[in-house]
Amino acid sequence: MAESVTAAEQRTSLHGHWSSRFAFVLAVTGSAVGLGNIWKFPYVAGQNGGGAFVLVYLGCVALIGLPIMMSEILLGRRGRRNPVETMRILGDEEANQPAWALVGFTGMIAGFIILSFYSTIAGWTMAYTVKAATGTFVGQDAAMLGAEFGAFIANPIATGFWHTLFMAVTIVLVGLGVEEGIERAVRFMVPALVVLLLILLAYAVTTGQFAAGAAFLFEPDFSKITGTVVLAAMGQAFFTLSVGMGAVMAYGAYLPQDASIPGTALAVAAADTSIALLSGLVIFPIVFANGLDPAEGPGLIFQTLPLAFGQMPAGSFFGVLFFICLGFAALTSAISLMEPAVAWMVESFGLTRPTAALRVGGIIWALGLLTVLSFNYLADFKFGRGTIFDNLDFLSVNVLLPVGGLFLTVFAGWVMCQNSTADELDPSVGPMYRIWRLLTRYVAPVAVVLVLLNAFGVFG
Ligand code: PFF
Repeated sequence: MAESVTAAEQRTSLHGHWSSRFAFVLAVTGSAVGLGNIWKFPYVAGQNGGGAFVLVYLGCVALIGLPIMMSEILLGRRGRRNPVETMRILGDEEANQPAWALVGFTGMIAGFIILSFYSTIAGWTMAYTVKAATGTFVGQDAAMLGAEFGAFIANPIATGFWHTLFMAVTIVLVGLGVEEGIERAVRFMVPALVVLLLILLAYAVTTGQFAAGAAFLFEPDFSKITGTVVLAAMGQAFFTLSVGMGAVMAYGAYLPQDASIPGTALAVAAADTSIALLSGLVIFPIVFANGLDPAEGPGLIFQTLPLAFGQMPAGSFFGVLFFICLGFAALTSAISLMEPAVAWMVESFGLTRPTAALRVGGIIWALGLLTVLSFNYLADFKFGRGTIFDNLDFLSVNVLLPVGGLFLTVFAGWVMCQNSTADELDPSVGPMYRIWRLLTRYVAPVAVVLVLLNAFGVFG
């Protein structure tokens, strides 16, 4: 073992390091906070009956997502390479099993699929920035805003244009390698997003349906828990924390050796969860006050928030700010979705960063057209879980992320020797190491396997 510890200590990242621990916290927060909190959480909670889903989701964040996030950071920091290479190096070093690289590879594929639809939705938020600026929401009721949204997504030229623009910006930023840019964007945008959500919360209280909205989110109706609901909650936990595909691992590779991993993961998960719950507390009162359907689907925030902006004082102003912040939050997540593949191409194939970003981004852009078309020309083309978008979403979020996370916990908990993980997590600082190990070896892998088996009907 002594030999491999030395090897691990000697490895350094080829892309430089974050300037400080705080810079890393900001980068991981930027990855975690995004459309998953504000767009996906409310609509998936709405589709899955509210409170019971939320409870399972919170359990999954604490017992599965958090230990996996810690594992990803420690793996990344120890391997100091892109996730494919890191898993190959560590698999080889710990157990003579370089085939663990496959876990990094499938994670990268999950990242391609997720970003392909993520970019389409991020494009919607850009379009809605313009709509807010031009006063489109003023004086409109729920039916008119529903029609507005329906007409917008029915137009593949418009949605395709915004998708293209969003991917272009992401490619440029990833190509330039923008650590400082990410730091600065997150430092400003995440607090701004929270302030805007609080302003929206004040509006939500005035709708008269705040109690109903809060009850929908926080009063669990246990009869609503099914295998599908639990699977959706677990997938959402993975998605919102950015774990299971190597995004956090890629960022961990640039983390200075002396930073505390448990502290970082806890801070990010707490911030991320609070923002999702805040978003739910804004959306559902508006849903109930306007007779909308909580199970409306991916259009939910685009049909509720414009009502708020159309009615509140200075609504156009706040609306523009809100959608800009949401776009930036999406951008810092999109950058992290591309980072594993781009780092892999740079480190393993000697491409320059801009070339790698262009190739990876080009493929993702093309794949994204399928999601653009899923809301219009291909809307009736349904199989498996629904439209092409529904299937890409289900496959990546509810299958690939949990399966990737499962392999990562098995690797960190069972394959790596205890000396190596203790070395990274510093057991001297408290009980965190033992809790992490218990969750990583037993709780998280068993839970993921049970949820997957149950959802796919193995228990009947
Ligand atoms: N966590 C991001 C969000 O909630 O919007 C989405 C995401 C980013 C998922 C990066 C996965 C990932 F690797």
